[in-house]
Amino acid sequence: MKIIGTGSVIPKKIVTNDMLSEFLDTSDAWIYPRTGIKYRHVISDEKLEDMAIEAARKALDDAGMKAEELDFIICSNVVNEYVTPSLSCIIQGGIGATCPCIDINCACAGFIYALDLAEAQYKAGRVKNVLIVCAEEPTRMTSWKDRNVCVLFGDGAGAAVLTEGDNIKGIKLSAASATDKLYQIRTLEPTPYITKEEQNISLQLKGQDVFKFAVKASSGDIKYLLDQLHMKAEDVDKYLLHQANIRIIHAIRDYLEQPDEKFPTNVENHGNSSSASCPILLDECRRNGTVKKGDILALSAFGAGFISGAAIMEL
Ligand code: ACO
Repeated sequence: MKIIGTGSVIPKKIVTNDMLSEFLDTSDAWIYPRTGIKYRHVISDEKLEDMAIEAARKALDDAGMKAEELDFIICSNVVNEYVTPSLSCIIQGGIGATCPCIDINCACAGFIYALDLAEAQYKAGRVKNVLIVCAEEPTRMTSWKDRNVCVLFGDGAGAAVLTEGDNIKGIKLSAASATDKLYQIRTLEPTPYITKEEQNISLQLKGQDVFKFAVKASSGDIKYLLDQLHMKAEDVDKYLLHQANIRIIHAIRDYLEQPDEKFPTNVENHGNSSSASCPILLDECRRNGTVKKGDILALSAFGAGFISGAAIMEL
């Protein structure tokens, strides 16, 4: 397939590091050097589904495609207000599409997993036009009393429209179950038969373990793909990496021995927006000219699971 349109929407509320230090024992002097984050956009009166629909519309407009022409919608989302129906079904109705749709929860690696699903459906001859929407509100998963976690995240939605083509050169997906490193637990409705104790646990993160996994998994996925495609790191024009932490991005850059200008970032003003991170960055880079048609891109992301994935494609 090939990407022919992108769109993104971010909440209007900006929360700076200094604003966090008004109610948390934290500071810009702690957050910025360790994460690269200066501020993040946080959902206030917006609804995630509205942001997802708007991002989808923007991507369709950009692609010059009508919603009726879509054959499949894939929505990547960890959590939103609706348990059911799926967010992809809500998006389908919102944009006026009629095709089948599916939600996936692949945490921060959702965009890469969605690309893989789209490509597989295309290669099976089942679809021609696919919409991917990654919509996330991780700021609703964290406790805003937990300085270890809430400072890291921001919200947003990013979308991409794909159609037939052979621009996706390769995709590598990986998983390594580690449920105690990065997780959130929520209670379900009680029944007369539930006797075990249950409690809500906000997003928990073993930061240093995640850091090590992220660097190893992303570097490994990209290297695997480069080798498989008989490419060198120099052959890639831009690396669009999951925007979780600037130090993780720098570690992957150093592993690949590539210049800093090949690694556009927006972690400074978005924080980690989970699976929306990659498509928002892609959309921003397309719009500001950082990437252009014909560029070779490597995308890579990692997340809770642990899972990770990378894709190499021509734009
Ligand atoms: N402000 C001030 N102090 C803080 C804060 C904060 N926001 N958060 C933690 N601290 C304190 C800790 O309490 C600890 O204090 P102590 O030594 O007195 O116990 C101290 O700072 C050091 O904490 P560490 O966890 O060792 O800090 P570290 O240097 O590892 O940085 C960080 C933490 C930024 C989370 C880092 O581990 C990291 O980047 N990990 C990668 C994880 C990541 O980026 N996750 C993103 C989400 S997951 C995903 O995308 C899949």
